[in-house]
Amino acid sequence: MSNFFPSCKKLKGLLVATCCFFSLFVSAQMTDASLSVHHLGEGHTMVRVASPQNLLLLPVQESAGESAVSMIVDNQMVNRLDVRMAVDQVDYYVPVDISLYKGQHVVFNFARVADEALCWQNIQLADTFDDSNVEKFRPVYHFSPRYGWMNDPNGMVYKDGQYHLFYQYNPYGSVWGNMHWGHAVSPDLVHWEYRNVAIAPDALGTIFSGSCVVDKDNTAGFGAGAIVAFYTSAGERQTQSIAYSLDNGETFIKYDANPVVSASVPDFRDPKVIWHEPTQKWVMILAAGQEMQIYSSSNLKEWELESNFGEDQGAHGGVWECPDLIELPVEGTSGKKWVLICNINPGGPFGGSATQYFTGTFDGKTFVNESPALTKWMDWGKDHYATVTWSNAPDHRHIAIAWMSNWQYANEVPTRQFRSSNSIPRDLSLYTYQGETYLRSSPSPEMETLRGNVIKKNAFSVSRTTDIKELLKGNEGTYEIEMTIRNKDADLMGFRLYNALGEEVNCIYNLKDRTFSMDRTRSGVTAFSEEFPAVTVAPIEEGNEFTLRLFVDKASIEAFGDGGRFVMTNLVFPTEPYNRATFYSEGGSYRVTDLRIYTIEL
Ligand code: FRU
Repeated sequence: MSNFFPSCKKLKGLLVATCCFFSLFVSAQMTDASLSVHHLGEGHTMVRVASPQNLLLLPVQESAGESAVSMIVDNQMVNRLDVRMAVDQVDYYVPVDISLYKGQHVVFNFARVADEALCWQNIQLADTFDDSNVEKFRPVYHFSPRYGWMNDPNGMVYKDGQYHLFYQYNPYGSVWGNMHWGHAVSPDLVHWEYRNVAIAPDALGTIFSGSCVVDKDNTAGFGAGAIVAFYTSAGERQTQSIAYSLDNGETFIKYDANPVVSASVPDFRDPKVIWHEPTQKWVMILAAGQEMQIYSSSNLKEWELESNFGEDQGAHGGVWECPDLIELPVEGTSGKKWVLICNINPGGPFGGSATQYFTGTFDGKTFVNESPALTKWMDWGKDHYATVTWSNAPDHRHIAIAWMSNWQYANEVPTRQFRSSNSIPRDLSLYTYQGETYLRSSPSPEMETLRGNVIKKNAFSVSRTTDIKELLKGNEGTYEIEMTIRNKDADLMGFRLYNALGEEVNCIYNLKDRTFSMDRTRSGVTAFSEEFPAVTVAPIEEGNEFTLRLFVDKASIEAFGDGGRFVMTNLVFPTEPYNRATFYSEGGSYRVTDLRIYTIEL
């Protein structure tokens, strides 16, 4: 370790500034003999590494500005990332993999970080990165990234007994940036195993959302059974690219003629590819500003624009993103209808992000919305976005998953080691109500396999209030509540889930307005964003009996009403788990005919 000017930082800075002509490197605060830090003036710092170790750990402070970092080996840039290098406080570390370059000189160039920043004293080499959980709001049965930031689920595809989940991932910080496709696999949609990053940024851009298909008949020529991924290359402009995997998603090879689709629209992204059996063609639907574009192809590489959808249809309070196009049977009929899923941000019913959908027909070229006068929402909470479905799922299932957050505050939610999780998986179908076709999202049946013990309460009537002093012994904030409620003559049937600190979530069936609402304004930690405290409201159908399943997992509540005929997904951050409940009524009484609380065990 050498430090030319150990005693006077100011003098050091001055000398660097005045002596730069002589290429004088100042090596400061080195923590390891094989790592040296050289300040180059005007916020530039070079870190030289020649190490047998696997990782360079970068100290991060989330409130700091982003530093542009380039990693150079043998005079070539091999990685380029943006990192919020710690200035006066280290919030956490992120690892940069250098294991490929053992024994070689690796140079990291950092821009826009002061010489005095704390990161230079803390940057360090390591062989391993401790990612054991440190977060009290880490969900148990919802997928969350091991560390770093996650947004949209991407490229979900089923193949050879495995559900693949890819996702928008920042491995270099727990806020949005450096988009990669992270990867996890599961045999059953509920037990997930982390895999290596699947697709990393390149000279065409960072890797935005998209989809995968299994090319069983080798239409693209990459190989029969290849998993082919479609993603947006987000550079100066957005274009669509392909990568393929010949080893069941473990590694991806980028197609050498990328990008495959381009346009002059600035927001042009999130390709979802499906096989359209009647026309024997691949179809790509993608978001272009406030509409969807539909393309077709016979080889996955050459795409022809067929139609646009969106003008004067549905909600337009923001950009349309992350589309999907699926054909579903209509319950109680022998028919099927097409559903176009359209995520929109902002412009959701309660502000920010939400998922709308359209039902209608699709002939391989054009989607026709059968109810242009209606806007249909897939979920009535604030934290259900970027919803898309699995490709090639077994048994003709259409399984959706959403990112359980909202762009209004996703970067500010009170976690650090990781940010965001997904919704539970939901099986989709269509039902008819008062002549209209709607999407039913039911918890995937696999969720029931996670039920542990059940506490079954005796039926009770609620004429004013009825308390349940304890939901579960040793409640750690991870459980499912299932209930059936029958109204007698109440105007309002409510229940609160709350904790000893008085933090609560208040759910109300309003029989006059025919709504179900969830109020999280006093749910615990809410002050991180003005947009977070909210009451969300869903319409409910005629009738007097209601079933409800509530999935609670540390920091979220997903309410499935009447077998998924309405769904409401909301984040909550209680300081301690809600372990009590009060049922109350107004205007009359009702009866809770069945109430069960399940522990959930992975
Ligand atoms: C939706 C989205 C997508 C985009 C991705 C970038 O949440 O904005 O449209 O591909 O996130 O991370």
